[in-house]
Amino acid sequence: MSWTTLLSLSNPLSPSLHRSLTLTRPNRSAAPISCLSVDVSSPDLTQIQPSIHEKKITSSEIIADEKKFIVGTYARAPLVLSSGKGCKLYDVEGREYLDLTSGIAVNALGHGDPDWVRAVTQQAEVLTHVSNVYYSVPQVELAKRLVEGSFADRVFFCNSGTEANEAAIKFSRKFQRFSRPDEKNPPIEFIAFTNSFHGRTIGALALTNKEHYRTPFEPIMPGVTFLEYGDTQAAVQLIRSGKIAAVFVEPIQGEGGIYSATQEFLQSVRGACDDVGCLLVFDEVQCGLGRTGYLWAHEAFNVYPDIMTLAKPLAGGLPIGAVLVTEKVNSAINFGDHGSTFAGNPLVCAAGITVLDKISDPSFLSDVSEKGNYFKELLAKKLGHNSHVREIRGFGLIIGIELDVSASPLVDACRESGLLVLTAGKGNVVRIVPPLVITKEELDQATEVLASCLPVLDQEIKN
Ligand SMILES: Cc1ncc(COP(=O)(O)O)c(C=O)c1O
Repeated sequence: MSWTTLLSLSNPLSPSLHRSLTLTRPNRSAAPISCLSVDVSSPDLTQIQPSIHEKKITSSEIIADEKKFIVGTYARAPLVLSSGKGCKLYDVEGREYLDLTSGIAVNALGHGDPDWVRAVTQQAEVLTHVSNVYYSVPQVELAKRLVEGSFADRVFFCNSGTEANEAAIKFSRKFQRFSRPDEKNPPIEFIAFTNSFHGRTIGALALTNKEHYRTPFEPIMPGVTFLEYGDTQAAVQLIRSGKIAAVFVEPIQGEGGIYSATQEFLQSVRGACDDVGCLLVFDEVQCGLGRTGYLWAHEAFNVYPDIMTLAKPLAGGLPIGAVLVTEKVNSAINFGDHGSTFAGNPLVCAAGITVLDKISDPSFLSDVSEKGNYFKELLAKKLGHNSHVREIRGFGLIIGIELDVSASPLVDACRESGLLVLTAGKGNVVRIVPPLVITKEELDQATEVLASCLPVLDQEIKN
């Protein structure tokens, strides 16, 4: 029987999936442990079939099969991960990695957080999915907490960051039509900024600045003007033209290279939007929910949006997106204007409640700020003198190390030394978005590895 068949949930002999996730602790000869803190000892289940994690499989086999069976949209690092705990990840050969990527700013509580595991397993036992034809308790509870903890009055749930921005596009256009019933041509255009990343579906893609993400798929949504991120005068001028339905801004750009807006820029954009009835959308898919040390990144600037989009960390690793809106925006939305089958299902929302409750604790947030400052100072001390390091920047635990060369050799060398980091921007920025629960000792360890791998940048130049 192939291991894919072993996964089949329709097999009557197959144990429920969460019971079968017995993870073999890497490096260790001892008995398997369960990373999911669930009972895996039940002999009737484990003796029926081995779980996929007990099957001996090598990284190279998986990589070869991936190339055969999966559409080639990802240039993946050659690493097959099989388990994780806290800020550590383990590959199928048992090698340990310190994870400063969090699955691209997703696993804010790290891997296998016990409260998160408990919430997910308990919810899975009772109810996973019902669709939005019906009400469910976790969805309403999560929405209530998001509203109580933010500028917003209402929440729309979806399944990803791009979907959240797609919904924000629709809500913005609907709002403009609704609020100007007598205008023949209400504003329908959008402003986005250089280095922006808002997603990959046709609407969100149109707001994403990188040209090579967009051009193969044209025609995409028309009516988007890209302005220089931070160019207050250009933004204010275009908003005042009256053609713009909404301005999409990341208060701190992630994919674009860890660039932060200024208070003056966001305040001026806010003011111009208010003058003409244009909406201000903050995309906090990557920078939101505690990563900056503030619950919402925009709180650092004291400027508030009409719409905020969220996704990545909200359900701690399960797919979720959310659009938070003011009552003014909500009043333009009617039954049937938007929807999604999976969105806000009880399972993801139960996970989301746990994540939000833990991150919104003021002591958790101040810890993120403190660790962020500590890490930035340490990086400056240990890496700042290197001639390839142009700038170390960031806010809380979203940090970029800009280089004068490609960051890929450094990222690869770090991975070979057991440290996972990402690239960003034009490929010359090392992006660091660790689990927010990372310890100072782990940040020390990461800095040592980064510093010891820096010479690889000189070798690349020589080659
Ligand atoms: C700021 C921002 N918006 C939107 C997205 C798209 O999110 P997703 O990949 O969940 O569709 C991303 C993803 O990196 C992002 O960083």
